[in-house]
Amino acid sequence: MVNLIPLILLASTALSSPVLPAVDPGSPTPTTLVTGALWIRAVVAPNYHKYLQTKPANSPGTALIESYTTAGQFNVEGGQLVNKAVNPPLYMWVEEPADKANPPRTLATWFNTTKNPFGTFAFQGDGLTWQVPSVKRQNVAAWLVCAKQALFVNTGAYGYQTPSGCADQTIHYYNDKTANN
Ligand SMILES: *[C@@H]1O[C@H](CO)[C@@H](O)[C@H](O)[C@H]1NC(C)=O
Repeated sequence: MVNLIPLILLASTALSSPVLPAVDPGSPTPTTLVTGALWIRAVVAPNYHKYLQTKPANSPGTALIESYTTAGQFNVEGGQLVNKAVNPPLYMWVEEPADKANPPRTLATWFNTTKNPFGTFAFQGDGLTWQVPSVKRQNVAAWLVCAKQALFVNTGAYGYQTPSGCADQTIHYYNDKTANN
């Protein structure tokens, strides 16, 4: 009888289907990249090698640029910026201004369980861009990180009349196995 136990365990392991190791909402992100996912990080001071994420991890909420130790995992698919490390996935949203011809300098960003209905994300090289035809921007790769490390679309020029309390950033994918400093 004793010899049967390992056989039973082997059998049940073999039967379970191979699924992506996606985590439950609110759980920490895996510390190595899930298949098809990327880290996304800033590369200049004061947010050098700080990474896109939410707090708590893998929950709907404000998009943050924070420590590598709690970095989220993402990719761009069909114009959506999606967190694929969590099941069900989360999508990054961009605030839709009432007056698109004359938008505020910053547009808020956050994650939700449904797809973003406003604008399109893409990588240009390794740089993350967001654009929508109704909002004219000088630089579709211009982002701002402001109070409490919240990430905003910068509707103005990069590095020009930076709003107080914010830092100009471009943000980039990084595909090493682990997020690092
Ligand atoms: C999240 O998505 C739902 C469904 O599209 C929408 O009704 C809700 O307003 C969204 N919430 C936020 C905070 O984006």
